[in-house]
Amino acid sequence: MKKRLQKWRLFALFSTLALILAGCGEPFLSTLKPAGEVAETQFNLMMLSTIIMVLVIIVVTVIFIYVIVRFRRKGDDKSIPKQVEGSHKLEIIWTVIPILLLLVLAVPTVSYTFKLADVAPMEKKDKDGKTKDALVVNVRANLYWWEFEYPDLGIITSQDLVVPTDERVYFNLTASDVKHSFWVPAVGGKMDTNTDNVNQFWLEFDSKKAQEANNLFYGKCAELCGPSHALMDFKVKTMSKDEFNQWVKDMQSVKEPVVAGDLAKEGQEIFNKSCIGCHAVTPNDSRPEQARQAPNLANFGERERIAGVMEHSEENLKKWLKDPEKYKPGNTMTNTYGNLSDQQIDALTAYLMGLKVQKK
Ligand code: CUA
Repeated sequence: MKKRLQKWRLFALFSTLALILAGCGEPFLSTLKPAGEVAETQFNLMMLSTIIMVLVIIVVTVIFIYVIVRFRRKGDDKSIPKQVEGSHKLEIIWTVIPILLLLVLAVPTVSYTFKLADVAPMEKKDKDGKTKDALVVNVRANLYWWEFEYPDLGIITSQDLVVPTDERVYFNLTASDVKHSFWVPAVGGKMDTNTDNVNQFWLEFDSKKAQEANNLFYGKCAELCGPSHALMDFKVKTMSKDEFNQWVKDMQSVKEPVVAGDLAKEGQEIFNKSCIGCHAVTPNDSRPEQARQAPNLANFGERERIAGVMEHSEENLKKWLKDPEKYKPGNTMTNTYGNLSDQQIDALTAYLMGLKVQKK
């Protein structure tokens, strides 16, 4: 009986494991399905080091087993085999081989490290101080949300990073409260966002791989930063250069939030009383960084998620507005406004869901 129970336990363990591992390998999330130049490079380095390690393990294991079998004492034979201690030949062999292996690993690692850190195009500015040949995004990480500013385009957005495919996108990375880390697993990274310095790097989003991922990659905070660290997600929307330029134009043309209908108008009034101190609703928010204390909501209606993690639906937005603490513990919105009635929440929802910039 006991034995049978043990068997079932094992079975349960393995099926759970299989279930968990079935989530791996998704093209929008997996580092094992690299979707750009950086991820590809990092993946190749990973493969190279894994191959070297496995080779070493195999060779050592084979020698180990051979020695155990070959030099086992047999019967009454008390003779001692030839001793090799201090053998010059052997010492040289097992010193030179690791050196060679390290070289094979070190040369590409070091050269790629420099290549992936090459942000020279960010430095080239025209007379207006704008970066000429490169798309630059300032990423600012906050407890527990992300801001993406395109300094040369005069656009600020949050939570959904929008990028063109097949070109290098350059990032300035900072944090406004504690240390976070910017990571798009399938495309590359990760790199820390710090409060006291700016880290820079670039990523490239491959258009074919992006298609496999439905033009939507998952981004993560990769530095333990507080109770909702695991919920500090963002999304990366990829599009062709033309579509991206159109998106930029759409964003740039928004001067005021769109409000359609009485309910939305009522929502706008509540918003302007209780929320606008922290949240902007236009992409050309001119407030300084410190005053931008919450996600920019200019294109909230087109977002992929509510609060970065919940399915984008009216129902979830209402739940979030009612009790943000329940869905993202320790977030900075909790207790910044009083209790909202259902009617007020409905109005706010109508207003926020109507905030769209893309002209279809
Ligand atoms: Cu931010 Cu973890």
